[in-house]
Amino acid sequence: MNENQPQNYDSTDLDRMHAAVKRENPDGKAGNQPAPVWVFVASMVAMVFGGGYAGAYVGGFDFEQNSAFMGKAQDLRPIDPRPKVVLGPFEFAMSKGSTVYNTCVGCHQGTGLGQPGVIPPLAGSEWVTGGTERIVRIVIHGLSGSVAVKGSNYNGLMPPQGALSDKDLSYVITYVRNSWGNEGSMVTPEMIAKTREQIKDHIGPWTSADLDKFAKENMPGEVPGGPGAVVKPAEAAPVVPAPATATK
Ligand code: HEC
Repeated sequence: MNENQPQNYDSTDLDRMHAAVKRENPDGKAGNQPAPVWVFVASMVAMVFGGGYAGAYVGGFDFEQNSAFMGKAQDLRPIDPRPKVVLGPFEFAMSKGSTVYNTCVGCHQGTGLGQPGVIPPLAGSEWVTGGTERIVRIVIHGLSGSVAVKGSNYNGLMPPQGALSDKDLSYVITYVRNSWGNEGSMVTPEMIAKTREQIKDHIGPWTSADLDKFAKENMPGEVPGGPGAVVKPAEAAPVVPAPATATK
């Protein structure tokens, strides 16, 4: 060993020296030992059982009464003084229809008057207030070729609007049949669905000649239009509880 060098004990020696000490657990002190695991388990079981027993048999616990939050102001916003308006089926269709009409407004205009010589009017049009079958067909598949509306001739092309849902089509058709002085019966989603089914094999827009025979035809399921019209809206159909299915 070189006395001039610092005495460097390598860590392996130190570990070996202390290994025996490290192996020993510290001496226990009386009263300081951790409780055995079974004590924790047993008190858990006692608490769960006790809580369940008290809840089931002791009674008298009322969440409303015992809630720390009861009796305190919860929502300080003033109550909305406006009366809640429940729209009847007709008003509901008209209100929805006025929005869906955005699809048509670019051509037929907000006034329903169309564009002279180019786009026929919906206001006062016998095509609109006439039979429901014809207008439903037009809106689903479109219309082309020469048509006479309110005594004027048009020869344009209306693109099909059948991509709208049954509901939206029923709303917008009810809307145009009852706006700008028009008066017509309501058109329901069921009538739209039925027409779609009938004409599912038809391709391309109709012509005036195709539809003349439907001028006065009404789809079955006619409901009177106008305020107070009574129709059971699809939304209000009774909710039938789903049959209980076995869960695995
Ligand atoms: C791109 C323009 C355009 C759009 C959008 C359009 N139409 Fe038309 N519509 C026409 C044209 C053009 C005609 C006439 C077709 C012809 O001359 O053969 C027509 C004809 C009609 C007719 C029969 C004639 C009449 O004026 O009464 C009805 C009913 C009608 N449209 C309803 C609608 C409804 C409802 C919508 C919206 C869901 C709509 N149209 C969207 C252009 C349009």
